[in-house]
Amino acid sequence: MAAIPLLPDGFTWGAATSAFQIEGAATEDGRGRSVWDTFTATPGKIRDGHTAATACDHYHRYEEDVALLRRLGVDAYRFSIAWPRVQPDGAGAANGPGLAFYDRLVDALLDAGVAPMPTLYHWDLPQALEDRGGWLDRDTAHRFAEYAAICADRLGDRVPHWITLNEPFEHMALGYALGQHAPGHAYLLDALPAAHHQLLGHGLATAALRAAGAPHVMLTNSYTPAIPASAAAADTAAALAYDTLHRRLFTDPVLLGAYPALDGFGLDGDLPFVRDGDLAAIAQPLDGLGVNYYNPTRVAAPEPGATPLPFEIAEFEHVHTTDFGWPVIPSGLTRTLLDLTADYGDALPPLWVTENGCSYDTAPDPDGRIRDQARIDYLDAHVRALADAVAQGADVRGYLVWSLLDNFEWAEGYHQRFGLVHVDFATGERTPKASFDHYAELIRAQRP
Ligand code: NOJ
Repeated sequence: MAAIPLLPDGFTWGAATSAFQIEGAATEDGRGRSVWDTFTATPGKIRDGHTAATACDHYHRYEEDVALLRRLGVDAYRFSIAWPRVQPDGAGAANGPGLAFYDRLVDALLDAGVAPMPTLYHWDLPQALEDRGGWLDRDTAHRFAEYAAICADRLGDRVPHWITLNEPFEHMALGYALGQHAPGHAYLLDALPAAHHQLLGHGLATAALRAAGAPHVMLTNSYTPAIPASAAAADTAAALAYDTLHRRLFTDPVLLGAYPALDGFGLDGDLPFVRDGDLAAIAQPLDGLGVNYYNPTRVAAPEPGATPLPFEIAEFEHVHTTDFGWPVIPSGLTRTLLDLTADYGDALPPLWVTENGCSYDTAPDPDGRIRDQARIDYLDAHVRALADAVAQGADVRGYLVWSLLDNFEWAEGYHQRFGLVHVDFATGERTPKASFDHYAELIRAQRP
């Protein structure tokens, strides 16, 4: 197969993780309880009752993980800061020992020549804030800005890229609308305030980061092209409705300063939780937009009476899927990047693919080597898809693989392995897979 086209000079290659999924050390150094600690302790919520009490034990093994990043040759590492380590109750003075961990991590990354790219919020809300309403409560947005300021104050002199939120759509949908993730609410469309308050938190935190001199601030959303299940007008309308909820609801206010019309959802007119000035606060200029891409979504018109939503998710047919059952359709990444470019025009900042990856639990060969060819193929195909989008005019500045390590995959526990590095969850032992060496080689081949 032809070599992967060279991405523009200065393109950033990286790998990503998040705090709750890898750190463990759930009660160490004054860390407070998060909604995910509560959720994982609730029977029936996580497959096989797995918890993240130890996870990859990254809290104690971060030096080893930074050494792996150095060996991988990445330019940047996207990790997240656990709010309950920094503010155990989600408000007030910083917890010194918790913040010190990220201080050590940032320094170790810089020593290794890897740019730190922290995400401030990857779903692990302090439980104390959830007890006061969580993201359904407007005050959480203000608390988030306060927490952002604490982080920027301590780490801002060494952090080149900040990300405010990770995937606010998934957090709202799975955590507040469907009850599949923490905090476990199944409020359907009554979850919408959790969208608005996260976006408000993003805007206020961006302002706080700027005030502390942050040079580069992004928001990371998940994006998925909504593909109508058929050419029927009803399926096309359903796909548009899905795109409105998944993409436009979390992008229009940030880039255009306005919410999309939600009349298809029975919500015509004003959203009662949006106050004067909120949209201006949300629409802060950004330096980049983070794109997490895994697969497109096939959307159909709902069966009458089946759901209060104007769409249903349908399965793709005759498509290879990962161990998670997710369809492998790399052209969806090209389409995602080009659609954003076309739909937002001059309002769109440079794009960064802040997550892309796949779950495959490839067994080791007799020599102990994990030859995860399926992951290699997935990554190659998606980098090519990204390069196609760049060739067609998308301004994409970086690509970060999800994930550096096998880790705690939320409601799936340890069942989905996304890592370039295998983790033995009983011992913590790390073993780079063939995809690790392949990605290192891909990065080397891209360097001028
Ligand atoms: C997106 C989320 O940000 C991350 O936490 C998760 O592990 C991956 N997708 C895979 O599901």
